[in-house]
Amino acid sequence: MNSFTYCTPTRYVFGQGVESETGRLAKEYLENPKKILIVSGGNSARKSGLLERVIKSVTGEGIEVFEIDGIKPNPTDDRVYEGIALCRKHDIRAILGIGGGSVIDTAKAIALGVEYEGDFWDFYAGKQSPEKALPIGVVLTIPAAGSEGSGNSVITKLDGLHKISLRSDFALRPKFAVMNPELTYTLPPYQTACGIADMMAHIMERYFTPTENVEVTDGISEGLLRSIIAVAPRLFKDPTNYDARANIMWAGTMAHNGICGCGRVEDWVSHAMEHELSAVYGVAHGAGLAVVFPAWLTYMAETAPSRPARFARQVMGVPATFDDHGDALAGIERLKAFYYSIGLPVTLDGLGIDNPDIELLVKKLHENKGEIIGGYRKLDAAATEKIYRLMM
Ligand code: NZQ
Ligand code: ZN
Repeated sequence: MNSFTYCTPTRYVFGQGVESETGRLAKEYLENPKKILIVSGGNSARKSGLLERVIKSVTGEGIEVFEIDGIKPNPTDDRVYEGIALCRKHDIRAILGIGGGSVIDTAKAIALGVEYEGDFWDFYAGKQSPEKALPIGVVLTIPAAGSEGSGNSVITKLDGLHKISLRSDFALRPKFAVMNPELTYTLPPYQTACGIADMMAHIMERYFTPTENVEVTDGISEGLLRSIIAVAPRLFKDPTNYDARANIMWAGTMAHNGICGCGRVEDWVSHAMEHELSAVYGVAHGAGLAVVFPAWLTYMAETAPSRPARFARQVMGVPATFDDHGDALAGIERLKAFYYSIGLPVTLDGLGIDNPDIELLVKKLHENKGEIIGGYRKLDAAATEKIYRLMM
């Protein structure tokens, strides 16, 4: 087990009706702001009345509200520049995101950009490391990206369609996250499923590791994955099952707030490969991962089957034999069947990509992430090309 520092400073406020506390939380944890920028998505929060309720709670504390809305899935840099300019113009020193990963990641990028004199993209391009950002609070509406508890932000630069994930252990973590599972009742089944695939992937990216003797972190990860797989069918049967929604919501946060990575090297190739799919083809991130992960696992079952075999046995319930390769393949089949059962595609054409430009995907992947990528096993362009082809 490796040495590590683990700090998750976010205050999670979880349960029915907790969005009514947003104003109080903003005052207490966002440094007593006079003005706040509320960042929101397309329409769901407005339509459900959530946006209005939260604004009422915030203005009730004497805080003036400014808004930037219409943030789309796979958010882009143009909206970040817009938000930074708005904050500077009105001297806004606190940000509140109401939505999912796309909204929260945009809020984080704005928070970072306001405190930096240069171009905010410098952080995503790796020219600067994030140390200072405006304080952020969030009201989560979809359990998926885990951005409510993570130090990450993923933004796409429109020029060249570069989708880049920025990771900062401290500067970007929200000060508070308001989490009412009832707010997720309005999610379409496909978005619910995408969220489930994404949170599972966040655990799996950390689970597939070359580090040995991390039994505690392994146990947490396997337990979380088994719980998600057990709860998911209840949720699709009854989308207003509070306890199912609540368990999935909390799992999404635990999946990505760092606890599943403590003491070990992480992988993250599947995310990098998916980010190229969503940047180029605009697919939902979670659906992309349901296609990428089985292909990556199939490659690993051939070349490094020990962890895929353990995953098959401990998470997917495959009876153990002495054949790692065979057990790993059986686990992959069960994983695909699970994705399929919740309405997700497991191939590129199922994702609506009939003629994938594999050459372009591989080129962009290695341009953005480096010549050799991966923590579980090191992969070059020949290997990632094979994995993209396994998705067909
Ligand atoms: O925009 P609205 O109208 O709100 O609709 C959204 C959007 O269409 C809808 N939605 C959200 N809450 C809803 C709802 N619809 C009905 N009822 C609700 N309660 O869901 C759609 C997807 O929203 P989005 O925010 O895009 O989803 P998600 O949370 O999956 O975020 C995806 C983005 O996060 C990035 C992804 O790459 C992608 O860009 N990620 C961010 C990470 C991070 N910051 O730590 C890690 C992840 O690995 C991921 O890469
Ligand atoms: Zn993800």
